[in-house]
Amino acid sequence: MAKKIGVLTGGGDCPGLNPVIRAVVRKALNEGFEVIGIKNGWKGLVQNFTQKLDLKSTSGILPKGGTILGTSRTNPYENNELLKKAKQNFKKLKLTALVAIGGEDTLGVAAKFSKDGFPVIGIPKTIDNDVPLTDSTFGFDTAVNIATEAIDRLHTTAESHHRVMVVEVMGRHAGWIAVDAAIAGGGDYALIPEIPIKIDELIDSIKKRKKRGKHFSIIVVAEGAKLSSGKTILQSEELDAFGHVKLGGIGQRLAAMIEEKTGFETRVTVLGHLLRGGSPSAYDRILGTKFGVKAVELIMQGKSGYMVSLQGNKIGAVKIEKILGKLRTVTKEYYAIAEEFFG
Ligand code: F6P
Repeated sequence: MAKKIGVLTGGGDCPGLNPVIRAVVRKALNEGFEVIGIKNGWKGLVQNFTQKLDLKSTSGILPKGGTILGTSRTNPYENNELLKKAKQNFKKLKLTALVAIGGEDTLGVAAKFSKDGFPVIGIPKTIDNDVPLTDSTFGFDTAVNIATEAIDRLHTTAESHHRVMVVEVMGRHAGWIAVDAAIAGGGDYALIPEIPIKIDELIDSIKKRKKRGKHFSIIVVAEGAKLSSGKTILQSEELDAFGHVKLGGIGQRLAAMIEEKTGFETRVTVLGHLLRGGSPSAYDRILGTKFGVKAVELIMQGKSGYMVSLQGNKIGAVKIEKILGKLRTVTKEYYAIAEEFFG
């Protein structure tokens, strides 16, 4: 029987997905596999919507953002009908194994498929950098670079107008993008989901800066940051197929509070999906490439239900089950580094 590897990308896109696809294809072809791309995440498996992946179809994709395979947040385990179709198609495609590239949701489905007897290897992906048991995910570095550049740009306009600038960044329930962008961009305060917002401390810090002649402040806030009530601000109550709410809006809320409590003119910039767009950084291209090669090696070793992971400077693998239901979030010790520069 022909050796055949399937590849899919699920969940939110992020810079680095195409380098991973390219690496899986190159390594797989070198090892004598055929490779098939499954379009639009798990949805493509349900619909049997595929495309052949070879040297030609993956040529020139290394610097491209997004994913040439398309993505979706479809959960085949949402109902029996979807699951039946996905399993039938898995068999029909005669896959030796499937490489599922995604965040916790996509990986969760991968683990279930593996348990149900369908060989799957997971590759962690997310700009949020919140997947446990991997030191980093590709996409995060690019997102932090974009946020840092935005903060650099906001500095000059904030200083000219003597304004407070609130910068809202993505990250879901983890504050990695916010805290790292604040460190790299010289943010004057960073608010993250892991530590409830202490509005009085924030206001004091902005006022202190003013007293020492700094008539502007840059406040970085993660979309999932919680008000002292413990509440996150939502764009809508609607849930996706994996039960996630849409976060967003904390920047506006915070800006209004700051203006009211300080009397300083305040503006908001929501970076949103800009953080996920465009070309991946060199770091993300390299990490993605290493992950892709490792995934094919694991398939060649007959492994299933594993996720490739970065451990120190080595690429290893962990059982997907070990990462499910957990999030890798910012520690107090890590946040303390950014705190040194507040105010
Ligand atoms: O998980 C990646 C992420 O970009 C989060 O940071 C954000 O909350 C979410 O996806 C946005 O999802 P969507 O693209 O569906 O709006």
